[in-house]
Amino acid sequence: MARIPEELIDSIRSQADIVDVVSDYVTLRKAGKNYKGLCPFHDEKTPSFSVNPERQIYHCFGCGKGGNVFSFLMEHENVTFVEAVRHIARRLNITIPDTYRQREAGSEAESLAQVTRFAARFFHERLLNAGRDSIVRRYTERRGLSEETVKSFGLGYAPDSWNDLLNAARNQGIDAALLVKAGLAKTGEQRTYDAFRKRLIFPIQAPSGRVVGFGGRALSDEDQPKYLNSSESPIYRKSQVLYGLYQARDALRQRGRVLVVEGYMDLLGLYEQGIHGAVALCGTALTREQARLLARYGQQAFLVYDSDQAGVRATWRAIEPLVESGLWTRIVRLPEDYDPDSYVREHGPDGFMKLVDSADSIADFMGHHANLQGSGDREEVFRTLTELIRKTTNLVHRETYREEAERRFPALQGLLASELRSPGAVQRDRRAPRAEGAPDGDAMVERDLVQLMLDGRAIAELVENQLEPRDFKHPLYRRIVELCFARLGGEGTYDLSGLIDTIGDDEAARMMTELINASDSGVNLEQRARDHIIRIKQKRLKESMARLMEQIKQMEKGGRSDELNDAMATYMELKQQEKVLLQSARGD
Ligand code: UTP
Ligand code: MN
Repeated sequence: MARIPEELIDSIRSQADIVDVVSDYVTLRKAGKNYKGLCPFHDEKTPSFSVNPERQIYHCFGCGKGGNVFSFLMEHENVTFVEAVRHIARRLNITIPDTYRQREAGSEAESLAQVTRFAARFFHERLLNAGRDSIVRRYTERRGLSEETVKSFGLGYAPDSWNDLLNAARNQGIDAALLVKAGLAKTGEQRTYDAFRKRLIFPIQAPSGRVVGFGGRALSDEDQPKYLNSSESPIYRKSQVLYGLYQARDALRQRGRVLVVEGYMDLLGLYEQGIHGAVALCGTALTREQARLLARYGQQAFLVYDSDQAGVRATWRAIEPLVESGLWTRIVRLPEDYDPDSYVREHGPDGFMKLVDSADSIADFMGHHANLQGSGDREEVFRTLTELIRKTTNLVHRETYREEAERRFPALQGLLASELRSPGAVQRDRRAPRAEGAPDGDAMVERDLVQLMLDGRAIAELVENQLEPRDFKHPLYRRIVELCFARLGGEGTYDLSGLIDTIGDDEAARMMTELINASDSGVNLEQRARDHIIRIKQKRLKESMARLMEQIKQMEKGGRSDELNDAMATYMELKQQEKVLLQSARGD
């Protein structure tokens, strides 16, 4: 594959002006050395979106999004990296030679994408051409699906036949094996046959609109199963896709609120009534990846599952990923025997939105569904709630969840206070992550040091000489340190806006831009860095010594004197290292 060469990308990036590009979408005002404006990625009234012309990056202190000129376009226009590079190149009148094609021709993913596109069109045309009296048209009519919804979602019809799709594909020169791989055909003992037959088809789209998989609903009750979902394939990872996200994107960005429902028909029923900010699971539990994907488009998640047992169980499991992804989370309670589709059809959009507006807090939901008489359940609910609140990084959310929990369960007051207000629990920054098992003081030192490294090459080199990535406890900081070191060793300049392109890790990029934009520069940067390095080194030495002391105690019990002597010697060595370290800290 001929990729666009790194130098060309570097050169395009360095010629672009992020203020200029962002200004096409956001009204920016100068504020000190930065520019500020209303964040295009979430709904806000006071500007917390900041663009730093010196570093050529942006960051929103409200929703945490950040990146360079390429990531801005990728996020805002929903384009790929290469498309963003091409877009900027066009603006700058830089020609990218045609030899650098976007994708390797004939790659498997590309062929699969072609097959799913073909099949989606095939099914869609079958539906559009079906007569009013056909089984599928009678069905869409009964379910209240309008022509507009059919077209917006590209709904289709898989005819009652074993090989219509296979034949149509063969006529186009598409190999049956590819249909099998895409989950559209199955291979039996004798022959290969269409996987979807006599079904209403829901093409499942990636956020870019590309069709990656299919769902199909039976058209009559005797056909089982009711829903059929195509299997995973190299382009369809169920844990990473949400049905309807493509159509919901704009509504989510405008309103910042996403409704999460269980079924295809729930989503379409809402859409039909003008409620566009919803996504649906495709027969799987909500995953962390899906929650993170949602957090890119909205700030608040409302779970609207069926009121039956399965729905409550699924809701219970979906809460944690949503909270962890930073989405403000609420649970909408539907009356018994309703699902979102049936409720909205009966009570209209206003009736439905009334339920949404009076959604339960997490604590209320748990209180409602747990058997609080049983002490085991109570313990379980308390523990789950405490864990959730602890994992909430947004301080405002955290306080609110805590208040709600205490209001619902007064008995929790003491417990939450001691769990959450333990030393260091008050974080200076609401997004400062907490390293597993490490007190927050550690995280703050690591954070500050990483921030200083991002500030300039000199400090990055100082850290590189003294520490290793694994000296950083927190995975996110460790990752950024690794990236900084790699950049130091690389050919190019130590250019942070370029560094962002090489990350491919949303969380790390987010943290980096936040740190860069929050940096206060200030004085004595190098001294501060040296102090932090010493603290980290001392900490690691102490940990090694503690571990060794444990072993020494075991050896003493076992009476293994040779090993014991060696271990003691090592211990003294470490002790000496610590002494030297502290001397150097005092400057003697
Ligand atoms: P439900 O059984 O709650 O159906 O399945 P529904 O959404 O109310 O659908 P209608 O109104 O009867 O048409 C919810 C979701 O669970 C998955 C599907 O993704 C469905 O949208 N499911 C359900 C399956 O994967 N297989 C099934 O057999 C049933
Ligand atoms: Mn239903």
